[in-house]
Amino acid sequence: MNDGGQRRYGPLGRALVIIPTYNEAENIGPIVSRVRAAVPDADILVADDNSPDGTGKIVDELSVEDPQVHVLHRKGKEGLGAAYMAGFRWGIEHGYGVLVEMDADGSHQPEELPRLLTALKGADLVLGSRWVPGGRVVNWPKSREFLSRGGSTYSRLLLGIPIRDVTGGFRAFRKETLEGLGLDDVASQGYCFQVDLARRAVEAGFHVVEVPITFVERELGDSKMSRDIVVEALWRVTAWGVGARAGRVLGRKPSR
Ligand code: GDD
Ligand code: MN
Repeated sequence: MNDGGQRRYGPLGRALVIIPTYNEAENIGPIVSRVRAAVPDADILVADDNSPDGTGKIVDELSVEDPQVHVLHRKGKEGLGAAYMAGFRWGIEHGYGVLVEMDADGSHQPEELPRLLTALKGADLVLGSRWVPGGRVVNWPKSREFLSRGGSTYSRLLLGIPIRDVTGGFRAFRKETLEGLGLDDVASQGYCFQVDLARRAVEAGFHVVEVPITFVERELGDSKMSRDIVVEALWRVTAWGVGARAGRVLGRKPSR
């Protein structure tokens, strides 16, 4: 980390790309290389939940060769939300000014990172978006597209937030934005973590910008999407929506 502040992303400070992993042994090496090539100034933190397939060990080896690659070994599978929270904490403690969320499986193309980071110069939070003009998905089954579009629409209408892709996981935050979201009480574990952060950012009055992305379905390994993850998202989003409405009626702040 003793780069003398050289590797800065403009006035925003150094960027850290956080990649959560659970059993991504086939994907992690190629994705790390692509990120390093696409944004050579950015560092990488892989937040691995002790993957049985040895993903963490692969990253250990990569980090020996490349000082810009770091790994956070977590004790076991605790969900995407917990892995990101630990990653954000690590990044803020280590002085990064920009924190990026990205999947390991190639669905988020590292070559689109410069566009996200450029947009962050005029925003507090940039969301890579499949559902704005110019955004799209490649190789997704119709059923999955329906689930994702439906989830986004349900969340947008119920929570009253003007975001088209509220569940996406390709994002760039300013450090100050994360610090302003009151992350200490985040309870969301699965993919609804993404909805949680988006709604907190809007409610806190941050300037949130959606940038179109092309989401490419993974070719290797398996999605960790499960029934439990969908159920958690459904009840939490519903509870937030109802809580916010009740709060407006009673004049209270939105519930966490
Ligand atoms: N550390 C950790 N722990 N990582 C996890 C866990 C976990 O419990 N569960 C998933 N991941 C990692 C995966 O290894 C991958 O790098 C990334 O999180 C996304 O997981 P996928 O399982 O590939 O997600 P997906 O393709 O089904 O879902 C995509 O769409 C969701 C809904 O729009 C992703 O883009 C999600 O971020 C998004 O919320
Ligand atoms: Mn995926």
